[in-house]
Amino acid sequence: ATILVLHGPNLNLLGEREPGIYGNATLNDIDQQLQQQARDRGHHLLSVQSNAEYELVERVQDARHEGVNFILINPAAFTHTSIALRDALAAVAIPFIEIHLSNVHAREEFRRHSYFSDIAQGVICGLGPQGYELGLQAALRYLEQS
Ligand code: DQA
Repeated sequence: ATILVLHGPNLNLLGEREPGIYGNATLNDIDQQLQQQARDRGHHLLSVQSNAEYELVERVQDARHEGVNFILINPAAFTHTSIALRDALAAVAIPFIEIHLSNVHAREEFRRHSYFSDIAQGVICGLGPQGYELGLQAALRYLEQS
């Protein structure tokens, strides 16, 4: 199967960005680990990070024609703002899991609302990079059973 991993704005700064909240792992560390995990199970994984909302929207739209079977997405700040990205995911109807490194419920009030959670297959937050690993594990189990 093909899994698309989408990383939203500022996640390119992981490792140096507020390490007390987001940890020391870089985005590259996370992507490498996911690549390995997917490859070991015989699947194909591609990762994209963008700071631009329209690029993420277009990436989701393109996923339809690329045979993407599952999406793991950390929409970052767009979690709390982007109806456009939500609509794109609803339009393509590809199952997805929403992931956050930090526990968004233990932070500012504005991080508690997500435009994605109610249409996600599942939501993982607060577990750092491990959240991606668990999200991929859940995605692969779902794909292998369906
Ligand atoms: C985040 C949480 C968001 O509230 C924040 O805007 C981010 C990262 C996380 O992974 O914890 O950029 O999605």
